[in-house]
Amino acid sequence: MSTAASTIAPATQQVKERTADLHLKAEHAPFMAAMVRGLLPRQAYITMLGQALHLHRALERAVERAARSPGPLTRVARPEHRRTPHIERDLAFFGAEVPAPSAAARRADALIAEGEARGAIDVLGMQYVLEGSNNGNRFIARPVAKAYGLTPPDGLGFLLPHGEEQPRVWAAFKADLDACGMVQPEIDALVRGARQMYDAVMGLHDSLPTT
Ligand code: HEM
Repeated sequence: MSTAASTIAPATQQVKERTADLHLKAEHAPFMAAMVRGLLPRQAYITMLGQALHLHRALERAVERAARSPGPLTRVARPEHRRTPHIERDLAFFGAEVPAPSAAARRADALIAEGEARGAIDVLGMQYVLEGSNNGNRFIARPVAKAYGLTPPDGLGFLLPHGEEQPRVWAAFKADLDACGMVQPEIDALVRGARQMYDAVMGLHDSLPTT
């Protein structure tokens, strides 16, 4: 770790603190609130899976491209972070086709492309948000399973990609991220990417039906 990095708050602490406002907003958005209360219609859940697949595909492709060059992504990104195989299985379970991307999914794609154009650390900030969201998804999976009569992992792979391993995967993600020893301008890029991903996800959720 460089001298500059050792005098600043760790990257994971900063990104969490500097996106807390958006987490609060994302948590309380009508779509998430309906899902948590088990009130989201089954078809709306399936619609969300289809559009989330487009967003996750875009991010995974950006991660893959960025991880070709040495840098923080090479250190942090692991195949187990890929959510698209889980979403594809969920859609197959429900017998649903992959839908055409909605306007919100296309906007998310554009935001991810913007982040990628700025650099690999912005992409990592975006990945932080998608991987971190599994913390809440663990709890959201319970009302969802109950509402649609699902038995994990059927139809719940998107919410439970790591099963019981979720705390371990998240702890490793954070440890690897902090071990990169980022300097402050790099952490600022990480936060910028994370904030942009919250924007993309919330835009997607706001575009979805809740009834
Ligand atoms: C009702 C919805 C949600 C609930 C109940 C929820 C709950 C949680 C919980 C309990 C944690 C763990 C906090 C900790 O241990 O420090 C967490 C972390 C996290 N969640 Fe959520 N969450 C929700 C929605 C979301 C959404 C929609 C996103 C992304 C768009 C998201 C992204 C994250 C991230 C990145 C973290 C990692 C820690 C941080 O940076 O705050 N969450 N969430």
